[in-house]
Amino acid sequence: MKVRKAVIPAAGLGTRVLPATKAMPKEMLTIVDKPAIQYIVEEAVQSGITDILIITNRGKGIIEDHFDRIPELEARLSEDGDSKKAILEQINHISSMANIYFIRQKETKGLGHAVNCARSFVGNEPFAVLYGDDVIIGKDPACGQLIRAYEEFGRGVLGVNLVTAEAITKYSSLKVESIRDNFFICTDMIEKPTPDKIMSLYSILGRCILPPEIFDILEQTPPGAGGEIQLTDAMCTLARRDGMTAVEFTGKRYDMGNKLGIMQANVELALQHTDIGADFKQYLKEICKTF
Ligand code: UTP
Repeated sequence: MKVRKAVIPAAGLGTRVLPATKAMPKEMLTIVDKPAIQYIVEEAVQSGITDILIITNRGKGIIEDHFDRIPELEARLSEDGDSKKAILEQINHISSMANIYFIRQKETKGLGHAVNCARSFVGNEPFAVLYGDDVIIGKDPACGQLIRAYEEFGRGVLGVNLVTAEAITKYSSLKVESIRDNFFICTDMIEKPTPDKIMSLYSILGRCILPPEIFDILEQTPPGAGGEIQLTDAMCTLARRDGMTAVEFTGKRYDMGNKLGIMQANVELALQHTDIGADFKQYLKEICKTF
């Protein structure tokens, strides 16, 4: 079955990015001139996704506003003629690129609990999950790479990359065996492993394709690391039972959930930006000499 729906959990508290995220959702923090979540929605759309559910919570209405139309602004930009044509097209694109729906996770009980809020939206179809604070930039959209693997192997897919031994204790660790090239079969995993529990340095980084059976598993999944219902624990049950395909995706991932990741994303994408890239590069070279 074709993967046409995606879920973007964006209901976390963002405590690692405080005080920026006290009133501002971390998914709305900008990378140069676009909020992080717009990059993620664009990746989903470029991957063939037509329907997207964004999981929000209290105080995140600004995300809905961003994907809504603003007729007054559109009228003003139209009046300005050719000088504002390009930005008007960009503004129109944001509200029309996909069918975007919203639901609230009423309590912050973890990523697994957030994904479970998507059950009636998803129905009986496979669906993509794009974590709301993981921006992945690349020529071949990461979500699309996973969808192709789902179509080929017909079971749940994990987007993975290698992380360092120090970092993996903050992420997940997977038991994998090579299928071919950048494809692996994953039969076990653990969230936030202590050093003695590390299975490999492959970790799930922000993207997966899940079969609808995951919802029954989530219902049975008790709170795990941090007292939260962990999506990794539910996917672990699935991987042990049916196996999952792990795809070492291409593309550069930026972790918008921590301050260094936010700065890396801004610097690297500013250097590639068509309007300001050259000037910013010059500025960076000069400023680096003075530190
Ligand atoms: P994180 O693990 O980064 O949690 O969530 P967090 O609460 O957002 O951030 P910190 O650790 O307090 O700084 C990963 C993704 O899952 C979403 C987040 O919005 C983020 O996109 N999430 C997390 C939910 O939607 N609901 C939750 O209950 C937890």
